[in-house]
Amino acid sequence: MAVLLLVGATGLVGQSVLRQALADSRVTKVVAVTRKPLPPQPRLENPVVDFDALPADAPWWQVDGGICTLGTTMRQAGSHQAFRKVDVDYPLAVAKLLRQYGAQRFAFNSSIGADPKARAFYMRIKGEVEQKLIACGFPSLTLVRPSAILGPRKPHRAWEARTIRAFHSLRPVLPRHYRVVPADKIAKALLEAAISAPAGVQVVESERL
Ligand SMILES: NC(=O)c1ccc[n+]([C@@H]2O[C@H](COP(=O)([O-])OP(=O)(O)OC[C@H]3O[C@@H](n4cnc5c(N)ncnc54)[C@H](OP(=O)(O)O)[C@@H]3O)[C@@H](O)[C@H]2O)c1
Repeated sequence: MAVLLLVGATGLVGQSVLRQALADSRVTKVVAVTRKPLPPQPRLENPVVDFDALPADAPWWQVDGGICTLGTTMRQAGSHQAFRKVDVDYPLAVAKLLRQYGAQRFAFNSSIGADPKARAFYMRIKGEVEQKLIACGFPSLTLVRPSAILGPRKPHRAWEARTIRAFHSLRPVLPRHYRVVPADKIAKALLEAAISAPAGVQVVESERL
């Protein structure tokens, strides 16, 4: 039985994590921390926060584990600095608070190719945040590294959804590692890790999803 805290619950993967977690009898409560309120549901607590000023003294940080599916795009963020804030600073701030309040597990939605030495900014940022999360010292840390994510996107990201669907049509000829991954599968891997808490640092590459 676990009480889990989720950040990113309004996103494509996060919505699926929330749906699956609330349907799972092993999860007693989900604390979904968002910047916009969610519709109320049984076993859901929904603190609405400003991620630039997380309330460090809130009692709801006291949970068994955390799941992070936060993320933005360069198009939405508008600058490298703003991108870094959402993809590194916010996940790290959440992880540190959870650790401080005694959480034992953390499951993080990273990306294929995450590497602090990568040439591409996106992969480098994901690699950097992974390293910083490892340094937080969770007894159980799971880094899930999907390839492109398949699922219904908001209208302003229709271009991305179209590209991913086109990519999906190449599935039979692509190596497993590069195949598009349904959001539900990523969510399932994150949730299972947060519930079962495998010891140490686990990296789940895209082909295992
Ligand atoms: N797109 C891909 O194909 C792909 C591939 C590999 C890995 N990934 C990574 O997978 C993760 C999950 O992706 P996804 O597609 O589920 O993302 P998504 O649908 O864009 O959701 C992103 C989440 O982050 C939150 N967020 C964004 N900017 C924020 C801000 N400034 N302050 C607070 N919250 C903010 C969003 O909240 P709001 O609803 O409030 O905006 C939303 O809950 C991301 O880290 C992404 O980088 C994506």
